Amino acid sequence: MANVLEVKELSKQYSKVLAADKVSFEIAEGEIFALIGPNGAGKTTTIRMISTLLSPTAGDAVVAGHSILKAPAKVRECITYLPDEAGAYKQMTGIKYLRFMAGLFTTDIDKLNSYVDRAKQICGLGDRLNDKIGSYSRGMIRKLLLARAVMTKPKLAILDEPTSGLDVLNAIEIRKMIKRLAAEEGMSFLLSSHNMLEIEFVSDRVGIISKGHLMVTGRPEELKARYEAPNLENVFERVVKENEVH
Ligand SMILES: Nc1ncnc2c1ncn2[C@@H]1O[C@H](COP(=O)(O)OP(=O)(O)O)[C@@H](O)[C@H]1O
Ligand SMILES: [Mg+2]
Repeated sequence: MANVLEVKELSKQYSKVLAADKVSFEIAEGEIFALIGPNGAGKTTTIRMISTLLSPTAGDAVVAGHSILKAPAKVRECITYLPDEAGAYKQMTGIKYLRFMAGLFTTDIDKLNSYVDRAKQICGLGDRLNDKIGSYSRGMIRKLLLARAVMTKPKLAILDEPTSGLDVLNAIEIRKMIKRLAAEEGMSFLLSSHNMLEIEFVSDRVGIISKGHLMVTGRPEELKARYEAPNLENVFERVVKENEVH
């Protein structure tokens, strides 16, 4: 299967912190890949470089054949990015927001309507779309934002901490939405999460990142077996310990 993303020794040095140190991984078409690690590990930094919002200090990433360094505009056509702390316009109704966002992608009215219809279906908010976003719960806002992020069927959807701050039921629903889009529509996802237990259920493969180092990648089952760990949190613990020893 072709790779929709190839990350090649991507590094970012902030003035004091080396937030990403030669991070390399790939995502295949239709695959859900999650960067997992504690707060401050370098997930958002890595994601923002791939999303062409932050320039790397070194390295490159190739999205659907386009380099983030040489063809950032082409990359932007292939991806959508949902930031960590994304908000939506509180005074707008949900439906108005979807139409507004769709309008940023196309001026063709049929296309615009098809994007909005798709988002309406995906978010599952029904009549509540006619209410102002200011009246939505956190879970409803996340569903709206996720629907917005995937309505144009990007080759790669990049979602930074998509379920962070949600209750269990809303988090489960978001996970199901992501899994369904990958399975039924062949969309690829790059997710991040500091919740290693939760992410196991949505990801085909994960990469464990700590202090800017991507230490290991693999299928959750594979990693649990390799490190004789009952869950990914324990895998993380062992991987970190192992790296301290050497
Ligand atoms: N704009 C910035 N300037 C300086 N340091 C930053 C900046 N953004 C993040 N950092 C630092 O880089 C490291 C990685 O941060 P981040 O990528 O946000 O991690 P994560 O998303 O995994 O929580 C942290 O030590 C953080 O303090
Ligand atoms: Mg982050």
